[in-house]
Parts: sequence; structure tokens; C-alpha cells
Amino acid sequence: MMWGFRELGLLTCALSILPLFCSATKFVPIDNYLIDCGSPSNTTVGSRNFAADSFFKDLVSTNEDILANTLNLNGDSPLYRTARIFAGSSEYTFPINQKGRHWIRLYFFPFDFGKYKLSTANFAVIGQDTILLGNFSVQKNPVMKEFSLNVSSDTLVITFTPSNNSIAFVNAIEVVSVPDDLIVDDAYTLKPSLAPYYGLYSQALETVYRVNMGGPKVSADNDTLQRTWVPDQSFLINSNLTTSNSNIAAVKYTEGGPTENTAPPVVYGTLRQMNSMYDPRFIFNVTWQFDVDPGFEYFLRLHFCDVISRSLNELYFNVYIDSFYAAKDLDLSTETNNVLAAPYFKDLVTLPTVSNRIRVSIGPSLTNTEYPNAILNGLEIMKMNNSMNSLSAATTVPVTSGSGLNSKKVGVIVGSILGACSMIVLIGVLFVMYMKRKKLAQQRHSKTWIPISANDGTSHTIGSKYSNATTASAATNCGYRIPFLAVQEATNSFDENLVIGIGGFGKVYKGELSDGTKVAVKRGNPRSQQGLAEFRTEIEMLSQFRHRHLVSLIGYCDEMNEMILIYEYMEKGTLKSHLYGSGLPSLSWKQRLEICIGAARGLHYLHTGYAKAVIHRDVKSANILLDENLMAKVADFGLSKTGPEIDQTHVSTAVKGSFGYLDPEYFRRQQLTEKSDVYSFGVVLFEVLCARPVIDPSLSREMVNLAEWALKWQKKGQLEHIIDPTLTRKIRPRKVSEHIRKFGETAEKCLAEFGVDRPSIGDVLWNLEYALQLQEAVFQGDPEENSTNMIGDLSPQINNFSREESVLAAQFESPSLNDLSGVSMSKVFSQLVKSEGR
Ligand SMILES: *[C@@H]1O[C@H](CO)[C@@H](O)[C@H](O)[C@H]1NC(C)=O
Ligand SMILES: *[C@@H]1O[C@H](CO)[C@@H](O)[C@H](O)[C@H]1NC(C)=O
Ligand SMILES: *[C@@H]1O[C@H](CO)[C@@H](O)[C@H](O)[C@H]1NC(C)=O
Ligand SMILES: *[C@@H]1O[C@H](CO)[C@@H](O)[C@H](O)[C@H]1NC(C)=O
Ligand SMILES: *[C@@H]1O[C@H](CO)[C@@H](O)[C@H](O)[C@H]1NC(C)=O
Ligand SMILES: *[C@@H]1O[C@H](CO)[C@@H](O)[C@H](O)[C@H]1NC(C)=O
Ligand SMILES: *[C@@H]1O[C@H](CO)[C@@H](O)[C@H](O)[C@H]1NC(C)=O
Ligand SMILES: *[C@@H]1O[C@H](CO)[C@@H](O)[C@H](O)[C@H]1NC(C)=O
Repeated sequence: MMWGFRELGLLTCALSILPLFCSATKFVPIDNYLIDCGSPSNTTVGSRNFAADSFFKDLVSTNEDILANTLNLNGDSPLYRTARIFAGSSEYTFPINQKGRHWIRLYFFPFDFGKYKLSTANFAVIGQDTILLGNFSVQKNPVMKEFSLNVSSDTLVITFTPSNNSIAFVNAIEVVSVPDDLIVDDAYTLKPSLAPYYGLYSQALETVYRVNMGGPKVSADNDTLQRTWVPDQSFLINSNLTTSNSNIAAVKYTEGGPTENTAPPVVYGTLRQMNSMYDPRFIFNVTWQFDVDPGFEYFLRLHFCDVISRSLNELYFNVYIDSFYAAKDLDLSTETNNVLAAPYFKDLVTLPTVSNRIRVSIGPSLTNTEYPNAILNGLEIMKMNNSMNSLSAATTVPVTSGSGLNSKKVGVIVGSILGACSMIVLIGVLFVMYMKRKKLAQQRHSKTWIPISANDGTSHTIGSKYSNATTASAATNCGYRIPFLAVQEATNSFDENLVIGIGGFGKVYKGELSDGTKVAVKRGNPRSQQGLAEFRTEIEMLSQFRHRHLVSLIGYCDEMNEMILIYEYMEKGTLKSHLYGSGLPSLSWKQRLEICIGAARGLHYLHTGYAKAVIHRDVKSANILLDENLMAKVADFGLSKTGPEIDQTHVSTAVKGSFGYLDPEYFRRQQLTEKSDVYSFGVVLFEVLCARPVIDPSLSREMVNLAEWALKWQKKGQLEHIIDPTLTRKIRPRKVSEHIRKFGETAEKCLAEFGVDRPSIGDVLWNLEYALQLQEAVFQGDPEENSTNMIGDLSPQINNFSREESVLAAQFESPSLNDLSGVSMSKVFSQLVKSEGR
């Protein structure tokens, strides 16, 4: 919902007659902590008041108050004149009045204060379990680091942990609410090209660049959200090829579009464009280059506003991030509903970067070349936390020696457990990778279980600290080793009454950690060689992949030859149990659709979220779990395999999986691709629709196998014969057909004989989301009457589509999907138009 700006301010705008007055509305942050650390008095910066250190003293927990100041005014802001120094691990605890995204801005300027030389300080900063800075130091110039975190609890704890024999410091701190709609959950990926990305809500972000293309520096005081924008000259690769332009007065913020909080007029009203002075037909790119830390994904927001065209639809251009399209033949007039000079932005997420730079280029469209030009008005680049929940490439977070630890300083423990935790996971992952290579040799020479984490170095220190403890907590939310004693305690010594499932791997118990976190404890049969490989795979996979729709691993235990995995507890159990055989109340059609969409998102992430696709290999309704809100999460990665390398097309492997869900092509040729998961998912879709087991030997021969049986009826177009009767009872028969037919068509496609003919899970996801929209449309009004009338006016209406809808439309236009969508497409469009118009 990039366009879903529904601010209080906008409401005011909508009510006022002249939208020009919009700019007067201002966002008022609910949480607004501004601290001038170490300062004896309040400091005014622009229009904001940073409180004296003493004012927020109660929020600090440190051994010794060291307040420092300097006469060196090298720092360009008065905030840099004082600092608070931490000799041991220390923390700030901020009460949070409104959960959600918050800016954390930290100011650092290294000066000398008596025996403390701040330029030698080396430390880590952790906020809400995310490593914001690791192995951090500031040599000479002042720096301000800006982060944004979605705070999910009533307090935000920021911990400063000095490295061994070092100190930490900070000159000023801001913790300020961010408008909820500034950063939404979805964006586009670069690869696959412009596919949907979900999951920004849970990301910690660090602003690495915020640039005003072709315009001046914008200081915090000239931005409604106190952001700083810098000019773009220093990032241009060949500035002679470019020219800047500006028309700030022309910028028209429109209802439902970006607001001044998205970016101020001085950003949208100034731009960089091609310098076509010599030969206007000359085709080239304008390119900016940004240095970044490799190994992270980056979130890019590109801001556009066409303040140079004389009329609509003059300017068509391409935008690239590295060699990928960020936008192709972009026509801003279309994106802004035919309002010239209306702001527009596009959000993209990169793959984990391999190189240490990101290049952003703009160039004219090659298909529409009447006025070859291209523009960019603003750009924000934010680093996203990695799977170890860190924004720092440093693999360790310092563990402070006794320098100042007392019972009150929980921060140290949290900090060090967290550091150790990422260490263990890292060692674990490396070790598992190493093990994989050595696997063959291993199987021949050794039959004993070798623990996942190496018992040396740092991890040993932590390990020993930890094994004294008899309790464990999930607070750090990061897979780590849990002592056997704690597991025993959590499951009441593996009480048989707590068994919630039994599988090939062993039993699953419900448990509760000492801090009250409910967990599912999966205990493997000891010394089973097969189980061992799966145990490792599962830890490896789950520590790399974290996603809202994948079950997360809280920890593992490998003491005493045990193979125990501890997961988040999924209150509502398996999808299967809600479909048949358990007597649970049946799910509504909408619930079923949403569950399928959730599971498809999880799989989509596995297939595309990482440099190499991961194939689940055991997709079935018993491996789709539901939390208390019936949100679906994919579980059981024991069989997962990393997918084909780019130059191969399949992975050869022994056939594994579950009967009734198994891809026949994989079975025949023993070649595994992502499309095998798509097949199994297709079976799940029919299972959801028909609410019967995938194999039911008690039925007549032709009915035994659900996939065959359902395909037969689907091909006849008479799906209603086999639909779960509890579904048909609730809906009028004619209405069933539209969205359920869509669903049936999608499932049918998934079950295509050959993998190449099956859609990708991303396509399946789109189709399901689309079926959901149809379903909603049915509830919102009576589509049948209006839909047919509107087919004639379809093309002009398409221009009014919001972004997502046009992407949706583009998806359906792609040849591979034409047959999937079929004739009913025109109805779809009219419904989209209809819901848009409301
Ligand atoms: C200093 O700032 C605090 C917090 O904003 C405020 O409550 C206090 O009145 C200020 N003190 C002075 C002397 O301005
Ligand atoms: C923060 O995260 C929660 C849970 O994922 C989500 O519901 C909420 O919308 C997020 N808020 C923001 C502002 O990102
Ligand atoms: C920033 O704001 C100041 C007044 O607060 C104003 O004089 C100045 O022109 C503004 N600069 C820009 C670039 O808008
Ligand atoms: C840009 O132009 C300036 C002067 O016109 C020239 O000195 C410089 O070499 C040019 N730079 C490039 C990269 O062409
Ligand atoms: C512009 O950059 C893109 C991406 O690097 C590249 O594919 C394209 O060929 C470039 N166009 C020109 C005219 O150089
Ligand atoms: C960032 O951390 C969140 C919360 O732990 C997690 O859900 C997300 O997957 C992480 N991001 C990446 C790119 O791993
Ligand atoms: C910390 O950073 C320094 C240089 O900035 C580097 O030499 C050192 O290896 C890093 N240490 C760790 C533990 O990453
Ligand atoms: C800190 O460094 C000293 C010497 O540099 C070393 O003896 C000590 O073991 C280190 N402490 C930790 C916890 O690494």
C-alpha cells in the first residue's frame, strides 16, 4: 500500500477546499526523547529542545556517571560539545507510549577529555536485540547515525557495550516516533524483476544515504521529520553529462499520494536530469554510485516528481539499480493519476550485495523516444538487518570484562548473550556448511554425533557462563544452544501428556520456558543417522531464514547425544487438523485463502529470498502451522535443499517427501526444482478446497488420490461437485464460481505434468491474492451486474489503477499466465475499478 497515506493531516486536507494548505499540517510524534548527553543545560537545535543530561538521568543505567565536554567546536552542532562516557556496559531504557517504528539517532564526536580519548573508543550499540553498531569507532569528524526500528514492546532498551579495555560514548540521542505509513510492509524486489517483497515491518533499518538530487542540502529543521538530505554531486559518476533543474512551487501533493512527510517540497521540486544540450537524441545513462557494506540487503526509496514537462505523458524513462530494472518505461503521469508535478516514489529491496557499491542509473526509455530524458528527485538508501538481526558486519559483539558489572546491569548479559548468540549461530552455520562438504567422508568414518558449535574461543566463554544456568529465555529471539536441563524443565521431563505430535523424526512436546514463552520442543530419536542430517539442515536453514511466514527456531540442544529443536509454539496447530479428521470447527473460505496466501509467501521467500533458491521438499498441510490468529507459517525444513545453481536447472537427489504430495516428475527423474514444491502446494490447495485426505484408501479407486480426483473435476469445470460442503452451504451457488474457479485454476496449473508448465510460487501467490480480492469484492457489493457493462471502457480505466493493481495487471498480461486468467480477466478489471472508485 505505497499509496495508502491516510494521515490525520490528509483528512484535514480532504476537508479543506484548497489542497495548497496541506503543507501547514504537521506530524506530532507521540514518543519524542531528545537528550543532549553530558550537557548541564538544555540545548536548542533549530526548533527543537534537547534536554539536559540530568533531565533523563533516570533512564540511564551505568556504573559511573562520566559527563564530558570540550571547547573544540569542530562539531557543527552544539550537541557535539558534550558527551556521556561509559566505562562498562550501560543502557538507556525508554518507555514507549506508542509501539511502531521509531527513529533512533545517535550523535558521536570524538574529543579528548582528561584520560579519556574518545577517538580510541571502540564499542557496540544494541537496540531492541538488534545490533545497531558493532566494532564501532569514530576517528575524527562528527557523525550522526540514524536507525529506525519497529518497537514492539513498552520499552526500548539501548545498550552501549565497550570492547575489551575500551570505552563507549555518545553525544546526543533521539528516540522519536515515525509516522506509521512512512515505511510500509511491501516493496519490489530487483530479482525476480519487480516481484512483490513483503516483510519490511520487521526490519531494522539504518539510513546510509539520503540524497536530494539536483537540489541543496536540507537540514533537519527544514524537514517535517527532522531528516537531513545531502546534495548529489559527489555521488555522480560523470556530472558533465547531467544538469539540475528546479521548480519547487510546482510540486502538487495530492490526496492519497506522498505527503510532505514522505519528502519535503525542496526534494520533490528539484531534480537531476540528462544534459542533452549538444544532441538531444543522444542516449546515455546518468549514474550515481554509493559505497555500501557488502553482505546486506538494502532498501531503496526513489523519489520522482516531474516538474519539467509541459504536458502529461511527455517523459518516459528507465531506472536501474546496478544492472537491474527499478522501473521500466516509467511514465509518471500514469503513476500519479494524470496530475503533472505530483510526487511519486518507488520502494525496492536489493539482494544481499556482493560488491561494496550500489549504482543507481536513469536513462531514457528505448521504446518511447520522442523526448529522450530521465529524472530523479531524491533517493534514500537504507541498510536492512541481516538474519542475525544485526546491522553491523562485525561478527562479534564485545564481551566486557569485569570492569564494572553489577547485579543491576542486565544490559551486559543481554548484550553478551546476544553477541554470543550470533557467534554460535554463525559458527553453527559455518560448521554445518563445512560438514556438508565433508559429509561423504564423515558417513564412512564416523557414526557419532558431533556437536554443532565448536567449543572454543568466545563461544566457550559464553557456553560455560550459560551452562551454569538452569533456565532459558527466548528474549533474544535468535537460535541458540539451550541447556538440556532447561529443556527438561520446560517439558516437565518430557511428559507424555504434553506430546502434541509424532513424526518420523520423533515426538513434539508443548513446553514453556522459564520466562513464560510457549515453545514446541521436537526431540529426535537419538543416534539416528538420518535424523542427524535433518537436524543439521533444520538448524542451518532456520538460522539463515527468518520470515513472518516461516516457523522460527528459538534454540536447539545437542547435549548428551540429544537432538532437540525448540520452536515458537503455534497455538492453532496444523492446517491439516483444521480441514478434516480432528473435529475442529471448519474454517471459512476467507480464512482458508489467507492461510494459503501466508504459506505461499513463506515458500516464495524460500525460493527467492536468498541468493540460492531453497526447495522445501515436504510441502503438505501438516507442515503448515497456524498461530493464535490463524496466521500460516511453513515448518519442517528437515528435508530442504539448496536449489539449482544458475547454470544448472535441477538438483539430483534421492526421492524424499510425502506420499500424495510428491511431484510425479521428480519421482520419475529424481530431479528436484522449485516446481516440485509448487506441485505439492497445488495438492494442498485442493486439500483446502475439498477438506479430505490426499490419499484415502477407503474410497473407490478413482477417488483414492485427491490430486487425480480433483484434477478430473476441475478439467470438466465442475469443481462444485467435490468442494467441501461446509463451504458451499454458506455461499450462494452462482457466487461460488468466480473466486473458487480462480482458485481451482491455480491449483490445476500447479499440478501440471511437467515442471516447466507450472507457475512459479510467486505467480501462485499473485493468483491467490487475486482470488482473495475477488472474494472481498463479492462481499463488498454485487459484482455481477456492473462487471459486464464496464468491459468496453476498460483501457482508460487502467490508467487510474494504483501501483499494485497495475503490477497485478502486468502479471496477468505475461504470456505464461494468460491461460490461467482466461476470459474472466475483464470482470476482474471492472471489479478493481469498482473498488477503486468507492
Ligand atoms: C529542559 O527540557 C525539558 C524537557 O524538554 C523541559 O521539561 C524543561 O523545562 C527544560 N528546562 C529549561 C530550563 O528550559
Ligand atoms: C510493526 O510490526 C507490527 C508486527 O509485525 C506490525 O503489525 C506493524 O504494522 C508494524 N508497524 C510499523 C509502523 O512498521
Ligand atoms: C530552511 O529553513 C530556513 C528557515 O527555517 C529558511 O530560511 C531556508 O530557506 C530553508 N532552506 C530551504 C532549503 O528550504
Ligand atoms: C567535465 O568538464 C570539466 C570542465 O568543463 C572538465 O575539466 C572535466 O574533465 C570534465 N569531466 C569529465 C569526467 O568529463
Ligand atoms: C544504462 O544502464 C543499464 C544498467 O546498467 C544498462 O543495461 C544500459 O545498457 C545502460 N544504457 C546506456 C545507454 O548506457
Ligand atoms: C531482520 O530481523 C527481523 C527480526 O528478527 C527478521 O524477521 C528479518 O528476517 C531480518 N532480516 C533479514 C534480511 O534477515
Ligand atoms: C574491528 O575493526 C577493525 C578496523 O576497523 C578491524 O581491524 C578489526 O578486525 C575489527 N574487529 C572485529 C572483531 O571485527
Ligand atoms: C581482555 O584483554 C586482556 C588483555 O588484552 C585479556 O587478558 C583478557 O582475557 C581480555 N578479556 C576478555 C573478556 O576477552
